Amino acid sequence: MKFFVDTADIGEIRRALAWGILDGVTTNPSLVAKTGRRFEDVKREILALCHGPVSLEVTTEDEAEMIAQGKALAAEGPQVVVKLPLTRAGIAACKALTDLGIKTNVTLCFSANQAILAAKAGATYVSPFVGRLDDISMDGMALIEDIVQIYRNYGFTTQVLVASVRNPVHVLQAARIGADVCTVPYGILDSLFNHPLTDSGNAKFMQDWKKVPE
Ligand code: G3P
Repeated sequence: MKFFVDTADIGEIRRALAWGILDGVTTNPSLVAKTGRRFEDVKREILALCHGPVSLEVTTEDEAEMIAQGKALAAEGPQVVVKLPLTRAGIAACKALTDLGIKTNVTLCFSANQAILAAKAGATYVSPFVGRLDDISMDGMALIEDIVQIYRNYGFTTQVLVASVRNPVHVLQAARIGADVCTVPYGILDSLFNHPLTDSGNAKFMQDWKKVPE
């Protein structure tokens, strides 16, 4: 399973890259707004840092504008993945950009039928939002199971990118199901390292090492 970090914060991306386990980055307009910085600056710095797939989202609801924005974004670097909403316009733009050889990530996916549409449009990735489904008492991870199964049934090559991850158990479940990618907020990625037995075991090794004669 590939790990993407779900952030537009340059410091977080830098720290996650330093661990050597990061495959890519996903952003969205809300994450960019949270930085308080200009999109141009954020985008330029992310693309300079990360050579793996970087999802950058279109900011219009109009199909022609999505295609124009998508082409402009894709021209910024070979790692750019154009993120499009799962709307009629977004799916049509996905098909048009796919036909031009541009990588796409269809976002705001909340049902298996929507995921079929993304696959039919040739999306590189589909992003089902598990946390937001959990928030309304639906089972987000059950949607991942459905999509993985349906894509397998028909040999769709669209990669299932688990998004709106809210806790480390989502990451574990995504891996158990066999999702292609999990995009994880920095804090949750960081928490994956934690285990009290690792900490106590490491402290004991360090302590015992001091007893070894020189
Ligand atoms: O990148 C999209 C997604 O991960 C958003 O997550 O926490 O706003 O539902 P969240």
